[in-house]
Amino acid sequence: MYDFRPADGTPKPDLYRDLLAAADALTADEADGVANMANVSALLWEFLPDVNWTGFYRTDPNSPDGELVLGPFAGRPACIRIPKGKGVCGAAAESAETQLVPDVHAFPGHIACDSETASELVVPVMRDDKVIAVIDLDSPSRARFDEQDRDGIEALAQMLASRI
Ligand code: SME
Repeated sequence: MYDFRPADGTPKPDLYRDLLAAADALTADEADGVANMANVSALLWEFLPDVNWTGFYRTDPNSPDGELVLGPFAGRPACIRIPKGKGVCGAAAESAETQLVPDVHAFPGHIACDSETASELVVPVMRDDKVIAVIDLDSPSRARFDEQDRDGIEALAQMLASRI
């Protein structure tokens, strides 16, 4: 049995250090990318307070336009396909840069999969200079995510690049 839930009020740097170690332990010996994304989605859900969706969109290898397609996640059912450049996830995929959005309603073209979502952090996962997936975190609170979250999830994305 895995029990990774951190204590309430754990400082973010400690939280992300432990999250990275747990994700490393869960994915290091498994070659199946779907299994690894599924476990990491569940870990993010367990570790991070005040989130309502944690998961992955993958760049569809069969899409000529680099469309994103829903991957493993925790939370409510979500939009299945996101065109490159659309919404927060599409912006991260197109720019290959993290999108830290304190107020999704102020983000042009935001795709509202869940009307409760107020803020969002989307981090691209890069392999061979291409965006192969994005990690998407949603929160019902405005400005839930900050630079420490960005640093933590970017480190996670880097670690997962060869494992998903
Ligand atoms: N809100 C996202 C879509 C994905 S869901 O939040 C799970 C966006 O604008 O890209």
